Amino acid sequence: MRIKTLILGAGAAGMMCAAHAGGDCLVVDHAKSPGEKIRISGGGRCNFTNMYAAPENYISQNPHFCKSALARYTQWDFIDLVGRHGIAWHEKTLGQLFCDDSARQIVAMLVKELRDAGADLWLQTSVVDVVHGRDGYTVRLEREGKPVTITAQNLVLATGGKSIPKMGATGLAYDIAGQFGLPVLETRPGLVPFTFGEGRFKPLAGVSVPARLSNTAASFDEALLFTHRGLSGPAVLQISSYWREGEDILVHLLPELDLFSALRAQRQASGRKDLTTELTRHLPARLVEELAQDGSLKGRLADQSDAALEALCVRLHSWRLKPTGTEGYRTAEVTLGGIDTDALSSRTMEAKTQPGLYVIGEAVDVTGWLGGYNFQWAWASGHAAGTAI
Ligand code: FDA
Repeated sequence: MRIKTLILGAGAAGMMCAAHAGGDCLVVDHAKSPGEKIRISGGGRCNFTNMYAAPENYISQNPHFCKSALARYTQWDFIDLVGRHGIAWHEKTLGQLFCDDSARQIVAMLVKELRDAGADLWLQTSVVDVVHGRDGYTVRLEREGKPVTITAQNLVLATGGKSIPKMGATGLAYDIAGQFGLPVLETRPGLVPFTFGEGRFKPLAGVSVPARLSNTAASFDEALLFTHRGLSGPAVLQISSYWREGEDILVHLLPELDLFSALRAQRQASGRKDLTTELTRHLPARLVEELAQDGSLKGRLADQSDAALEALCVRLHSWRLKPTGTEGYRTAEVTLGGIDTDALSSRTMEAKTQPGLYVIGEAVDVTGWLGGYNFQWAWASGHAAGTAI
């Protein structure tokens, strides 16, 4: 069978690309349903974009690469699309937009868009091999157990990254890119919880606190969550994308509060109060209990000198931690690294040295922050390739 465009992967980027590539286009995926990551994203409500999405919110060896695609398909274009499909949404926090009802609405919208554009979708279809010849890309597929061969003028790699192999993530895009000589940068899990030595934060599991997490590369003010195995929560997921094995992370608890002034004012107003009681007005009681274990938080407020209060604030504001590792691809929301952007046109996402081969979405070395940025990259890069085809 001969067609114009074959897209491998019916995820966020692949379906968006098909919706713009139009007729004579086939999308294949080995999963039973399209857009499985969309379906489970945002706790089932899909954080489908971010009102403040900008190139600064992306990590890549070439931070300029994402600019063109993001500028030509913005968050407002996607919000407009969602509106045309009558999908109700709301802003949760920090510009993050979620469906009011269900992420399934986004999947249904994309399937309708690609079908309306005249594209076809084959599920439970795996890729056996790909060769390139004078006629284009000949791809041997296995559709529901039966062999099918497709020859396409354009081949789009949209099979995503390695995160969550249980959901069908594979390194197929990297393998095919490598086969055609495109460089693939080292990949590692991003937006992923940290692990620590056995039981380090076990007594605090479930406790959440506002914090600023930073290292030499970045800083994020969001919630920090203690878990049985280590640390999670938005602030941790964000900084994990900038973390390298063996590095320290600096934790500043309660970054919005001038704790020293607050404690001094309370010492003046209610000096008979216990220091730990006062601290529980600002921090979760279990965390205060844990911090007090070493006997350092004793006595009433009136007993605390300025120097003692200052020492306490320093302790809470510059807590140095060394994660032993991360939870890995098993739970990572994204894959950092991937197909080198140097090998691609930033306008069309086509490989510079391999005409007709396109790479979009997470497989490319462009990774967004937590908060709808990764879907926005999938929509924008899918649109760039789809309109160019
Ligand atoms: P995506 O992974 O969506 O699609 C790839 C497709 O290729 C899949 O359908 C897969 O089955 C198929 N495939 C893979 N290998 C194949 C093979 N060998 N043969 C055939 N088909 C193959 N982002 C965000 O912006 N907001 C959010 O709320 C969330 N939430 C979230 C939650 C969780 C739990 C995860 C794991 C991830 C997120 N993300 C997110 C990230 C977001 O899901 C991700 O960045 C995009 O889905 C990437 O889109 P792609 O189309 O590139 O890959």
